[in-house]
Amino acid sequence: MVTLDQIRRPIDEYILEFDAFVRKNFSETEGTLIGDMLEYVLSSRGKGLRPIVVMLAAGATSATGNFGKRTMLAAMLVEMIHVASLIHDDVIDESNLRRGQASVNARWQSRNAVIIGDYILARNMNIGLQSGQYDLLTHIIGAMSTLCEGELIQSDHASKLDTSREHYLDIIYKKTASLFSVCGSVGAISVGATPERVAAMRTFGKMLGMAFQIVDDILDFVPNNNTGKPAANDLRERKITLPLIEVLERVSVEEKEAIMHHLPLCAESEESVAYIQGKVEEHNGVELARQTVQAYLQRAMSALSVCEESDYRNSLLALCEYVVERDR
Ligand code: FPP
Ligand code: MG
Repeated sequence: MVTLDQIRRPIDEYILEFDAFVRKNFSETEGTLIGDMLEYVLSSRGKGLRPIVVMLAAGATSATGNFGKRTMLAAMLVEMIHVASLIHDDVIDESNLRRGQASVNARWQSRNAVIIGDYILARNMNIGLQSGQYDLLTHIIGAMSTLCEGELIQSDHASKLDTSREHYLDIIYKKTASLFSVCGSVGAISVGATPERVAAMRTFGKMLGMAFQIVDDILDFVPNNNTGKPAANDLRERKITLPLIEVLERVSVEEKEAIMHHLPLCAESEESVAYIQGKVEEHNGVELARQTVQAYLQRAMSALSVCEESDYRNSLLALCEYVVERDR
């Protein structure tokens, strides 16, 4: 099984530099509300997959095999948009747990969580503008409205309980894969790669991001998973995700009606959660969704064929393996 340490190996020293760069740009006085919230957020940042993709894409597409400050900046701008979006996401989802610890809203209340998310976005934008690297900034900032669109479409379909496969794929592209796609393309742009390579990295990121979000949604159906997030949260939020869509597309009209009867009850009833989980298990919803994951990863790997063999490219390939194997 491939580990994140193996994937990170070609960029180990850059990651240390990256962490220091983020802290330098996003720390505030200890003991103040803002300083404490930022410290909490930075020290529980998670796997850092997005900056890893930015740096590996830069390394894999650069003519010299090297990358520098522009890539670091791009990685930070992307990562902090992601960090802010998850703070807001936990407020929206009323989720109290993130990566095994209290979410920002659980610890400091939703109103403060909303503001610190906004603060991070504002500061991020300021850093981007002050850097004068407008090509990177313009490329990255476009993804922010796409993320918001994804959340709103998701919310709309959740309230109507009518998420189809097409809706689902559109939502996960917008809320997750669009930012991964930007990670790939901006990594390549940061080192002045050819348009062909920028496009290939955009495709790589998009396909990886689609697979990543489907696995996230699969893990929601796995009891006692290691994600550090409550399981079955999607059902409680009326989110219809791929494992359930696979089942809904196959079952009889009566079974579908029964599932749709239980879905809105999941927020209050463990029995309804168990009923739907049982149906997903009975009809192999998770295995079927995994086939779609594999198809996206195949497309991600094919996109890498425009780059010559390198440690960076090998790590991008290994990342595909990691995404499908991950349990957290
Ligand atoms: C996680 O989904 C959420 C996202 C990937 C996107 C969140 C985006 C917003 C809240 C819009 C605001 C945008 C910006 C730029 C601040 P999930 O709830 O399925 O995943 P989870 O299980 O990790 O919570
Ligand atoms: Mg959420």
